[in-house]
Amino acid sequence: MARPSRQTLGLPSATSLRRLHGHSQLAPSPVSAFRKSGAVLLLAAAVALPCVVLYRAVVSNAPPPVQIDWDRRLWREWDPPSPPVLVPEPEEDGVLNPISADDPDCDYPQLGQLLQEASMDNKTVILTTLNAAWATPGSVIDLFIDSFRRGIGTSSLVKHLVIISFDGKAYKRCAEIHPYCFALVTDNVDFSQEKRFLTAGYLEMMWRRLDFLRLVLEKGYNFIFSDADIIWFRSPFPHFYPDGDFQIACDHYVGNATDLRNIANGGFNYVKSNNQSTEFYKFWYSSRLRYPGYHDQDVFNFIKHAPYVTDIGLTIKFLSTTYFGGICEPSGDFNEVCTMHANCCVGLQSKLHDLRIIMEDWRDYMSMPPSLKEFGAFSWRVPQNCSLSLLNQ
Ligand SMILES: *[C@@H]1O[C@H](CO)[C@@H](O)[C@H](O)[C@H]1NC(C)=O
Ligand SMILES: *[C@@H]1O[C@H](CO)[C@@H](O)[C@H](O)[C@H]1NC(C)=O
Ligand SMILES: *[C@@H]1O[C@H](CO)[C@@H](O)[C@H](O)[C@H]1NC(C)=O
Ligand SMILES: *[C@@H]1O[C@H](CO)[C@@H](O)[C@H](O)[C@H]1NC(C)=O
Repeated sequence: MARPSRQTLGLPSATSLRRLHGHSQLAPSPVSAFRKSGAVLLLAAAVALPCVVLYRAVVSNAPPPVQIDWDRRLWREWDPPSPPVLVPEPEEDGVLNPISADDPDCDYPQLGQLLQEASMDNKTVILTTLNAAWATPGSVIDLFIDSFRRGIGTSSLVKHLVIISFDGKAYKRCAEIHPYCFALVTDNVDFSQEKRFLTAGYLEMMWRRLDFLRLVLEKGYNFIFSDADIIWFRSPFPHFYPDGDFQIACDHYVGNATDLRNIANGGFNYVKSNNQSTEFYKFWYSSRLRYPGYHDQDVFNFIKHAPYVTDIGLTIKFLSTTYFGGICEPSGDFNEVCTMHANCCVGLQSKLHDLRIIMEDWRDYMSMPPSLKEFGAFSWRVPQNCSLSLLNQ
């Protein structure tokens, strides 16, 4: 499936309109910067009447938006091409095989203090993970931290961020740019290279991360986990559910926070530390043995249906893409959006390219006068190098 071919339109693009507001520093931008023809018409009328005809023309010539075949994805999820169940469901009493016999406190003696220092008053931390490929100057981690500074009400959150490094290079870079760095050391796997989907190293990294998050919960800390390829625009706290133990962003949101047909994305979640959540993380981690070759996100989408999850009393809430969007399903509202994830994207260079566009879009939005912001007519110029079609394969 081809990428959207907006760039091929011969007509002048929304760049012209942006210039009216003095943001001419942008590269030529695709037409989709204005998504609703009605809103575009209003906006154009408000700023420059001669534009009206032009922008109506542009909109009517725009190719249809790329659609992800969510039905097919849902089908795949219900009928995962997974091997037969290799380990039994947990017994009724909920006793699982121990994942690791290690005493967590012996594992990482400094972790408790680090979490304490970084924590908010209500024992909440923000966590992300980092490898060498994402840690080089100008790469993903810099965009991530920069986004907190440019977001609305997010700059004060950086001091609660703990960056978990998978390798020495990432740790070293973290130490240069951030006060709270933690080295998640592993003996036998090289986590430093760029990881593409489903290589053995990538999987190991994802599962290692999950087990670490369980440890953070056991130490009594609530956390927001955010992949570093998520740009933060606003504080997410106002949009969390008071009654949710485990709240997770979605590649695709069906419009109902408790509907298990939501397709979760493990890159962003808010988890409260309690018995239900720690038990759930143990179950999730142990489920990797039943679905070899899958990463934690896919396995979550399998096990969310498991009766055991209901039995332990875990309340799951799916977060709307209106607030927690991504390239798979962008938020339609710049006035509400909290985060934007470079999901539906494979390859570091493509990701970086589109993350920079996302950041430019935000800066453009921020520089608009309030009256124009209210029109809600501004929209993303991504995906460009990322590709939605990957999901349909
Ligand atoms: C925890 O504290 C932060 C920072 O003060 C606040 O924004 C957030 O709403 C609090 N979380 C909860 C669940 O009360
Ligand atoms: C949301 O989904 C849940 C679970 O599927 C269902 O029980 C509930 O009725 C749904 N709510 C609405 C408003 O559709
Ligand atoms: C977990 O359960 C145990 C016993 O069932 C209880 O003593 C403990 O307070 C619970 N912890 C939390 C965080 O709810
Ligand atoms: C992104 O896409 C553009 C146009 O398709 C291409 O010229 C450019 O090389 C790509 N950049 C990356 C980093 O892939």
